[in-house]
Amino acid sequence: MIQPETRMELLVSLAKRRGFIYPGSEIYGGFANSWDYGPYGSELKRNIRDIWWKRFVTGRQDVYAIETPIIMNPKAWEASGHLETFSDPLVDCKRCRKRFRADHLMEQLGRDPAAIDLTGVNCPECGGELTDVRHFNLMFKTFIGVTEDESNVAYLRPETAGGMFVAWKNVRDSLHKRLPLGLAQIGKAFRNEITPGNYIFRTREFDQMEIEYFVKPEDAPQAFEMWLGEMKRWCEEVLKLRPANTEYVEISEEERAFYSARTIDVEYQYPFGQKELYGLANRTDYDLSRHQEVSKEDLRYLDPETNERYIPYVIEPTWGLDRTVLAVLAEHIDIDEADSVSGDKEPRMVLRLPPILAPVKVAILPLQKKDDLVGMAAPLAAMLREAGIATEYDTSASIGKRYRRQDEIGTPWCITVDQDSLTDQQVTIRDRDTMEQVRVSVADVRAWVEERLK
Ligand code: GAP
Repeated sequence: MIQPETRMELLVSLAKRRGFIYPGSEIYGGFANSWDYGPYGSELKRNIRDIWWKRFVTGRQDVYAIETPIIMNPKAWEASGHLETFSDPLVDCKRCRKRFRADHLMEQLGRDPAAIDLTGVNCPECGGELTDVRHFNLMFKTFIGVTEDESNVAYLRPETAGGMFVAWKNVRDSLHKRLPLGLAQIGKAFRNEITPGNYIFRTREFDQMEIEYFVKPEDAPQAFEMWLGEMKRWCEEVLKLRPANTEYVEISEEERAFYSARTIDVEYQYPFGQKELYGLANRTDYDLSRHQEVSKEDLRYLDPETNERYIPYVIEPTWGLDRTVLAVLAEHIDIDEADSVSGDKEPRMVLRLPPILAPVKVAILPLQKKDDLVGMAAPLAAMLREAGIATEYDTSASIGKRYRRQDEIGTPWCITVDQDSLTDQQVTIRDRDTMEQVRVSVADVRAWVEERLK
């Protein structure tokens, strides 16, 4: 059992050593809170994204894809309320100049973060006096064109949701679909976070996977329950997060956004504490009403059954992609024991990723670098790759070292080709988790793997 403090350290070092996640801009001394996804991290992220898309978009009748720009007409952010209210409450220490989120300080003190009152509270670092609470807008500002004046100001989107509300009218008019109708988007969002940190948990740019699910107002509570069930199944069936590590927290009326009729935060027990992983909100008709008001366009839906026109309600399940990667790595990193070359037991680090998420599914390892073994192993690797199975072919180092490497990147199956394979046309498949080995005929390898990836 890995202790939580060590779990995070092990995770960060494994992720760097094995090519999942590197500190960003490292050759220039780094750049605070930016991270590069390396070869295996990118594949893991891509697998999560692809499975999500298949499950919630192409796999459903009622959800459609959309791709909207990162930089939109700034009026959209005025309408959504982001320009005015998308801010964090901050306090500074007058002595050591450190900056804190006032709501986080309240949380640390065991008080209600929604009722920020820091009277009598001093700097947790040096005991100095704190300033009054100030609000800092999180929108990333930029300028369009050559002149940097106020008329050219634009913003990087703080969530992918905004574009979907703005595109609603065109989708409504081009698809002519009945409600419920969902729009799904995956993409980058940007927030000028004041207190980023905890590795990839809170960064200034991150990927979101969001659905805006437009429904008849009276159907909203039921649609909320449906998406709650979907989010639970995603966590348990796809990510294989232990139910004990996730909590579905009902947000009280005082704490949730004023427009939300109901919000549930999906929280995960990260090694540094229980924090938000995903969110689910009943955003009512707030967004479309605001866009209707500001754009002066009619955004109502004409119900073909009743002939009534109304603004649909929106149920919004939202998934942070980077937080998913973090939760998956934290959940599945493990240390057990394996036989060493001398026959003693030695600690083994292993990433027990669900096979469908693993960046590499199969590693083909000829036992020795001999021509006849290579002659059999290399075509086997090529065949699996051609079948769309992410396959690595590795002839370097001892077999023990090659197993360790694959265990650490989470490869579920290592296939060795040995001297016997040349005569019996069978290979040995080693299971990452149990380290048990089975002999399988070369002709059956592809089906064997595909069966387990279903
Ligand atoms: N459209 C709703 C929305 O954006 P949110 O709770 O602000 O809601 C949704 O963000 C998800 O995006 C969060 O649950 C989290 O997974 C992810 N997220 C938010 N801020 C983030 C940050 N600074 N770094 C990484 N992920 C973040």
